[in-house]
Amino acid sequence: MSHAVDSIRAASKPEFYAALNRQLAAILAGERDWICNLANTSALLMQTLPDLNWAGFYLLKNGELVLGPFQGKIACMRLKLGQGVCGTAAARRTSLVVPNVHEFSGHIACDSASNSEVVVPLLHRGELLGVLDLDSPSLARFDDEDARGLEQTVAVLLRASETA
Ligand code: SME
Repeated sequence: MSHAVDSIRAASKPEFYAALNRQLAAILAGERDWICNLANTSALLMQTLPDLNWAGFYLLKNGELVLGPFQGKIACMRLKLGQGVCGTAAARRTSLVVPNVHEFSGHIACDSASNSEVVVPLLHRGELLGVLDLDSPSLARFDDEDARGLEQTVAVLLRASETA
């Protein structure tokens, strides 16, 4: 496919995410299917962000976060709101950057390789649809600039899609 990209060179994190999010908008243009767009968004993040071991989505269904499209190892299938990093970010409806998951009370270890994590809620017109979750084998892999950039990624994804 013409938009395929394996890496993005950029001078700074904000520039990296601006380029990534332009790529995403181009890839999703003309496609409105929610699951299809979640799947390719997880693939783009895994292909272009260095030092990840997991990138994907949990979708809110009947009050629980259920595993959605992702890239990485087999993961926990259901997470409760308010528990773990994903459930906490979902319940608070804010992004969460965790430099060391082993120090986060209630962290749910799906892949023992994960040492740091960032979670961004999927909020569409005030409604919580789920979360985007990225894991890294490195400590302190993510900071607030990653969270801001990924919030824009989620905004591009939501704009492009007919959410189910
Ligand atoms: N570590 C997450 C669970 C999801 S996996 O990392 C894919 C958490 O504590 O919510």
